[in-house]
Amino acid sequence: MTEPALLQDVSPGFAADIRAGLTHSPQKELPSKYLYDEVGSALFEVITALPEYGVTRSEERLLTRHATDIVAQLSRDVTVAELGSGSGRKTRRILEALCKKRPTSYCPIEISRTALQLCRRELGDIERISIVGYERDYLAGLAEVSEKRPDGEQLLVLFLGSTIGNFARLAATRFLRDIRMMLKPGDALLLGTDLDKPVPTLIAAYDDPIGVTAAFNLNLLARVNRELGGDFPLDAFAHVARFNPEARSIEMHLRAKRRVSAHVRAAKLTVTLEEGETIWTESSHKYRAEEVDAIADDAGFACLRQWVERDWGFAESLLVAR
Ligand code: AVJ
Repeated sequence: MTEPALLQDVSPGFAADIRAGLTHSPQKELPSKYLYDEVGSALFEVITALPEYGVTRSEERLLTRHATDIVAQLSRDVTVAELGSGSGRKTRRILEALCKKRPTSYCPIEISRTALQLCRRELGDIERISIVGYERDYLAGLAEVSEKRPDGEQLLVLFLGSTIGNFARLAATRFLRDIRMMLKPGDALLLGTDLDKPVPTLIAAYDDPIGVTAAFNLNLLARVNRELGGDFPLDAFAHVARFNPEARSIEMHLRAKRRVSAHVRAAKLTVTLEEGETIWTESSHKYRAEEVDAIADDAGFACLRQWVERDWGFAESLLVAR
């Protein structure tokens, strides 16, 4: 029997998560994973084209230059799972290098159906590839892919784009440990991390002058309005990007320009923000290339190789499950 092209399982937790975040004290917050609905995913694609946001182009340069070398570190028979497929543009390099050697299964795992569809459109033309999308949370999807991979195949997990940066540092290690638990010894994880860089560079990357990142951030409240029957007045909020030196992260917030109350019907919630109060919507932690070794080790991986792009500052690390 052939696999269905999309395994679907929509999380019912949106209203509950929004309720928990907006009643969180003292700092109201919203989980960054909800930034990526159809509108948010499209806005993120535009962000990756902005001159100020060097992250994606830097990683693309790395993967273009080193795909053959990366693939040469793996065994002959590889199944690929990707956490957060995005549009799939960067992944093409790796998949082409693998499919040149033999037919390869590629399993993008992604809670956004739109992103899965984009990814299939982007990568479906690669010769000898078979794509099965998993509309799942990362770990649930990974458990399934790992379980179903044919006997004797090495699993290559791709976690690109510095999505790991959305986790606080300790949570990042814990997450890598969770990934490790789904794997067998010898399986591999290709991890992309954005590196430390001067604060003005970071601020410009996360608060661009034409306001795409601001729209990306505000869309989170717009989405709450659309999907949960909220009535947030969007013009009462301003996009803020600030550097947190202790965490070495850049934070996105939505700041109330005046006192504002809103009701969210599906979350049975009324929320009030004082003037100047913020909702924290995302953190992007930055790394030193050497740091990845230690984190990998803590999580049960050995760092086999690392490729660093110095023009922007990005590292790709190939970790192997011990
Ligand atoms: C997709 C999570 C890697 O943190 O740089 C871009 C998201 N937020 N601009 C990042 C993002 C604001 C991005 N990641």
